[in-house]
Amino acid sequence: MTTSDPLLQPYQLKHLTLKNRVMSTSHEPAYSEEGMPKKRYRLYHAEKAKGGMALTMTAGSAIVSRDSPAAFGNLHVYDDRIVPWLKDLTDACHEHDCKVMIQITHLGRRTGWNKADWLPVLSASPVREPAHRAFPKTIEDWDIERIVADYAAAAQRCQAAGLDGIEFEAYGHLMDGFWSPATNQRDDDFGGSLDNRLRFTGMVLEAVRAAVGEKFVVGIRMVADEDFEKGLSKQEGVEIARRLAGSGKVDFLNIIRGSIETDAALTKVIPVTGMRSSPHLDFAGEVRAATKFPTFHAARISDVATARHAIATGKLDMVGMTRAHIADPHIVRKVMEGREHEIRPCVGATYCLDRIYEGGEALCIHNAATGREADIPHIIPRTEGPKRNVVVVGAGAGGLETARVAAERGHQVTVLEASSQAGGQVRLATQNPRRKELIGIIDWRLAELDRLGVEIRYDTWAEKDDVLALSPDVVVVATGGLPQNPPLAAGDNLVTSSWDIMAGSVKPAENVLLYDDNGGHQGMGAAELIANSGAKLELVSPERFFAPEMGGMNHVPYMRAFQEKGVTITINTRLRSVRREGNQLVAELGSDFADGWRGERRVDQVVVEHGTLPLDDLYLALKPLSKNGGAVDYERLVNGGDIFPARNPHGGFVLFRIGDAVASRNIHAAIYDGIRFGLRI
Ligand SMILES: Cc1cc2nc3c(=O)[nH]c(=O)nc-3n(C[C@H](O)[C@H](O)[C@H](O)COP(=O)(O)O)c2cc1C
Ligand code: SF4
Repeated sequence: MTTSDPLLQPYQLKHLTLKNRVMSTSHEPAYSEEGMPKKRYRLYHAEKAKGGMALTMTAGSAIVSRDSPAAFGNLHVYDDRIVPWLKDLTDACHEHDCKVMIQITHLGRRTGWNKADWLPVLSASPVREPAHRAFPKTIEDWDIERIVADYAAAAQRCQAAGLDGIEFEAYGHLMDGFWSPATNQRDDDFGGSLDNRLRFTGMVLEAVRAAVGEKFVVGIRMVADEDFEKGLSKQEGVEIARRLAGSGKVDFLNIIRGSIETDAALTKVIPVTGMRSSPHLDFAGEVRAATKFPTFHAARISDVATARHAIATGKLDMVGMTRAHIADPHIVRKVMEGREHEIRPCVGATYCLDRIYEGGEALCIHNAATGREADIPHIIPRTEGPKRNVVVVGAGAGGLETARVAAERGHQVTVLEASSQAGGQVRLATQNPRRKELIGIIDWRLAELDRLGVEIRYDTWAEKDDVLALSPDVVVVATGGLPQNPPLAAGDNLVTSSWDIMAGSVKPAENVLLYDDNGGHQGMGAAELIANSGAKLELVSPERFFAPEMGGMNHVPYMRAFQEKGVTITINTRLRSVRREGNQLVAELGSDFADGWRGERRVDQVVVEHGTLPLDDLYLALKPLSKNGGAVDYERLVNGGDIFPARNPHGGFVLFRIGDAVASRNIHAAIYDGIRFGLRI
């Protein structure tokens, strides 16, 4: 097929023909098992390959040495056992003409000393990285010798696995630790002048080239401007890019702007929802213009139009759409088939990245198939069984997902929604203007349901008889929940829920105490709205640190707002009761730690967040009439088989509930329920 779409034009990188301009930059999804990219890892990348991308840069920071212990499930490229696993992965992607490379690195100070073999963390100089908190030792001559050799051996393993190339990670890790004046305080041959600061990089390049030869593709993902006062300047960064491009030893530059040493800094490199789109694209374009060298770049280029612009205007040679492919691995295929409008949007929620920093695996907030390719397909297959009449009650994220999946399977689906709009708690969350992009989770599903011909009946409060009147074969209760108060000794009727604040049904008063006994976005969203209203706000939490259910990157914009608006944050403190005194409220505070400790706050309003209680009246009313009594066989849900046990021979339909209609959870849980149950209808 010939096309004039700039994104779909091939790109020649040395001997490699990349079939289009779209790539996924390196990212560790923490799907590794004992440091190896096994089946889960392979299927994850193979899905992107099937989806049409030209190049997938695997791993994120695959570690070349033992004393660079995995910080977030990184692959062990220092271990020979990795070769066959990488080969399987590469072969699986090559089947779809998707090229495969890998990022290798020594993490330097960006890891912990109390992991793996408990070896000391090292860096160019003993400067601590705030995010990982290790105090590094100063790298010595014998360390340099062995790590340079480790890089070369790792590169050879990658070559042996049939990979199409490698890139070095040089932002926030050991290599660029030498470049940056902020982390290199040395006065020997490795410090001071730019030549000296580049010495370690040169040694690695020499050794790697000697190991893999001239033909193998070797690139570098490098910071070209650390963008903070003491850091590497743009002038020096671009000079490094020029020198590397002119060295004859690297084949591409993958450009980064910013520093990653704190969570706040990291969000400027990897912007989260509410932050600018493609903030560093012009800068990457400047580096390309200055070096006239193959240039790759990714940073919130989430939509096809921006990606196309990046290529069409010559700012980049290859455009990274990394989280965009976590949300939808089939972007390129959809573009090629003229189905761009069907691309599931990345809404920048950064649930994916926050989870790996919290020790979990990368999951997309609204694509539950990502990382679960072995069990959950990205393309929903038609059912081979009978066509069923499915009634979904509730058009929140979970309900819409079940409806979408059931309709894709070929069933007849009707959605009943009590309110005049779909979206439930997702829509509520978007009342915080900073997070309004999350509505893409709902809008994408509404567009899909429209395409699939699913009817949504709004303003319909479904009672048992309304559902029965539709003669359903399957009823899905996705009615969500309603906010509940935290346990209080007194004053339940005096508090305002975070929902009331988010929905705008209650205005923030002048002097507010918000008690967050949930720990996620719900309380923080309300707090941000209150703070932005100009109110005086104290945020109280019983936890050791506030909002523990939210990851470090999502924490950043909240904290920025709280500090800018002078919000007081009090942790380790419980709200015991609330009483009225005059026209004010008195919040009585207590502690889990010191029994007798008491505090009091006199405020105009006490706002509370303690999750939801399921809205389960309809479910309970339908339960005795259903074939399965609402029961689900969890063993079969996980391992396969019919998940709805026959418990009532007189029952007329299968019944199940999902999301917060079961228990207070989050968007991903509701959507995961939606798809895994939907697939079983
Ligand atoms: C789960 C996850 C892990 C990541 N790990 C790495 C990594 O190890 N090395 C790296 O260079 N970038 C890493 N990144 C950053 C991505 O490569 C990319 O630069 C970033 O997501 C911004 O691009 P995007 O907006 O297209 O997603 C990671 C990103 C995610 C989402
Ligand atoms: S979790 Fe959010 S940022 Fe990450 S891929 Fe999904 S939509 Fe994008």
